Amino acid sequence: MSHVAIIGTGRYLPEHIMTNDDLSELVDTSDEWIRTRTGIRERRVSTGISTSDLAYEAGKRAVVEAGLKPEDIDLIICTTITPDYFMPSCACIVQERIGAVNSAAFDLTAACTGMIYGMVTAEQFIKSGMYENVLVIGSETLSRILDWEDRSSCVLFGDGAGAVVMSKTDKGGVLLASRLEADGSKSNLLTCSAIPLQNPYVKSPSHFQPTEIEMQGMPKKDLYRLPKIEMIGQEVFKYAVRTITDNINNILKKAGLSIDDIAYIIPHQANQRIIEQASKFCKVPLERFYMNLDRYGNTSAASIGIALDELVATGELKQGDRLILVGFGGGMTSGSILLEWR
Ligand code: UT7
Repeated sequence: MSHVAIIGTGRYLPEHIMTNDDLSELVDTSDEWIRTRTGIRERRVSTGISTSDLAYEAGKRAVVEAGLKPEDIDLIICTTITPDYFMPSCACIVQERIGAVNSAAFDLTAACTGMIYGMVTAEQFIKSGMYENVLVIGSETLSRILDWEDRSSCVLFGDGAGAVVMSKTDKGGVLLASRLEADGSKSNLLTCSAIPLQNPYVKSPSHFQPTEIEMQGMPKKDLYRLPKIEMIGQEVFKYAVRTITDNINNILKKAGLSIDDIAYIIPHQANQRIIEQASKFCKVPLERFYMNLDRYGNTSAASIGIALDELVATGELKQGDRLILVGFGGGMTSGSILLEWR
């Protein structure tokens, strides 16, 4: 029986680079603090391009790399916490723009684990026989939901998109095992509220009152607090180290493999210190963890797709190399995929 495999990858990043020094002009921080506490040197920030624009560019590249035509795509899954609209979905916008006329399309949300959740969902559709070719895109303009006055969070994130095309075949990045997890009891660790309930029976709740900056020049009807990322950083840090370690150990067990069988691990790119600690707990040399967070920061649902596409582009992946993709994020959610390159 054929496996499910990744047959094409793509990425797209906004052009504008925001350095740590640029950030130190906005909030009380420094290049030294950000580099030593996170490993991040710079990130890309949209100067106008939207989540669906980024998704379209990354998705288009993945379809070309897969050697397919847009009309060969049966399903598009976009994963994002920063869609342009509640409706239409980012996936429907991409479907129209790339000309995937035969495709179904929907968005999926699992915060920074979005790409793993999206790929495992695609795997099930392909395994069931319902669809042959699925495009999965992680795309974010996190800059739109950052609190640019909160130095403990605004320095961490960036904008970007990564994509994969998955099909039923034994060639490419063949999926050997996958797993998903969630722990809603820790949902308070990482949050971003939606719009408040406001209707003839419910007035705008007081905790949605706008800050002074948000009030400047804003029409009266929009005077509720805009959604912003809030987090309990140290608790997220501990959860991340534990969940990366557990996911790696559990997926190896599921696939009947050992850590020595793994050439690369692509973790969600949140903080270099999180990855360093996970590497110690898993007893995996740090060099085996692919990292690009120094250049892009944390791009949430996009990070694993961007990193995978970069690794593929280096040409360093050899036949038989095995990789673990491992994500964690708000929810809290986590998950992993074990691939073999053929
Ligand atoms: O996809 C998941 C997304 N979230 C994450 O990955 C977050 C995981 N957590 C982290 O990465 C880390 O907890 C942070 C990078 C957010 C913070 O690092 P930390 O080593 O845990 O620092 P801390 O929160 O213990 O803060 C230490 C000090 C504090 O000052 P005081 O109270 O000791 O005077 C903070 O106010 O560092 C201060 N601080 C900063 N200083 C300069 C916090 N942010 C900054 C900053 N620049 N940007």
